[in-house]
Amino acid sequence: MSQKAEELFSAHYKINDIKVRSGGIEFKTRLKTACLANILMGSSTRILMRLASFKADGFRRLEEQIKAIDWELYLPLQALPDIRVTTHKSRLYHSTAIADRISPIVHDRLFLKDASRRHDITDPAAITPQTLMVRGENNRFELSLDMSGTPLYKRGVKEKIVKAPLRETLAFAILTRLGLSEKDTLVDPMCGSGTFSLEGAMMQCALPPGALRSFAFETWPGFEEKSIAYARNKLMAAAGACMDTRPLPPISARDLDRTAIDHLKQTCTRHKAFQRICPVCDDFFNIKPPPVTNHQGVVVLNPPYGIRLDRNDDVTVLYKEIGHKLAADFKGWRAGIVCPGRKEFQALNLGLSTMPLFHGGLDLYTAIGVISR
Ligand SMILES: C[S@@+](CC[C@H](N)C(=O)[O-])C[C@H]1O[C@@H](n2cnc3c(N)ncnc32)[C@H](O)[C@@H]1O
Repeated sequence: MSQKAEELFSAHYKINDIKVRSGGIEFKTRLKTACLANILMGSSTRILMRLASFKADGFRRLEEQIKAIDWELYLPLQALPDIRVTTHKSRLYHSTAIADRISPIVHDRLFLKDASRRHDITDPAAITPQTLMVRGENNRFELSLDMSGTPLYKRGVKEKIVKAPLRETLAFAILTRLGLSEKDTLVDPMCGSGTFSLEGAMMQCALPPGALRSFAFETWPGFEEKSIAYARNKLMAAAGACMDTRPLPPISARDLDRTAIDHLKQTCTRHKAFQRICPVCDDFFNIKPPPVTNHQGVVVLNPPYGIRLDRNDDVTVLYKEIGHKLAADFKGWRAGIVCPGRKEFQALNLGLSTMPLFHGGLDLYTAIGVISR
């Protein structure tokens, strides 16, 4: 079972027919629950709502099927979806031609229905950004609306992003795999823009990953604004109560780059959940970890690698030094270290397991486990 499917199960909502598909999962549920999934799921990039699935081996059939969809039930009248088409082993294979056939049909339905809006068509401010995904395989087409809008790894909290940030979804997946709990002391010694620290802070007080951002579905006619606002407020109140009643340990964020630390300090002023993060400009190789008991220390690292390092630098040497430092000062801590490949993972020599990850076009290994040597 993928991590995404596990997350959905643990959300305790009525979700049926969960299937793991290549690159994601598919499930059936009510629109309201799917809206909440956008707020709750920490490791997904986007959630799509399936509109239709049909066979079409020519433009005529495609157009008939597009006309049969009640577009005004799904999209606001001023929406003009950006149509993204992919096809595989289908007679209709020209993605631009397919988008060009679909676009005027949707456009006419959403604009001609609302005569008062016809004159606003050229006003970009009147157009709600929305993506329609069209996927053709063996002449079967699936049409889906992107519920999320801006990708879900953008949590809407970072003040400024410094170079080579880790995606929030990956940081969330690594911290979940490490079982980060509110009792753990989190150390993020090469924090950059603070992705691990910010995700960890939200997780430890159960503030949902999407609690502080907006979504494309909020403009849809079927969006139940009041009930989603109610559910969101309840989740926020529970997180607030957690912060007020439990003494959560400080999160240590360190980086050599002073600008990164200054930006992170700014970000930490944006929500109460981030006030426990202590950003300090420091060298990882000089830091001494705070004392922890019973493996309740979690250290996470996303060191510079590949194009992020000078060409002459040997990245395995850096990973070897990181391994020595962790073995010397972080024995007994749970660790998650992002590695660009197997060589770097082996150079750590910490006896950890691997967790495969895909990030920015690269297959990464993450070293995961308790530092025991
Ligand atoms: C790949 S980036 C980390 C990105 C970060 N995970 C984020 O999401 O923004 C690597 C970071 O390690 C920092 N760094 C490199 N060597 C360091 C050292 N010896 N001590 C502390 N930080 C270091 C760099 O300044 C850079 O910000």
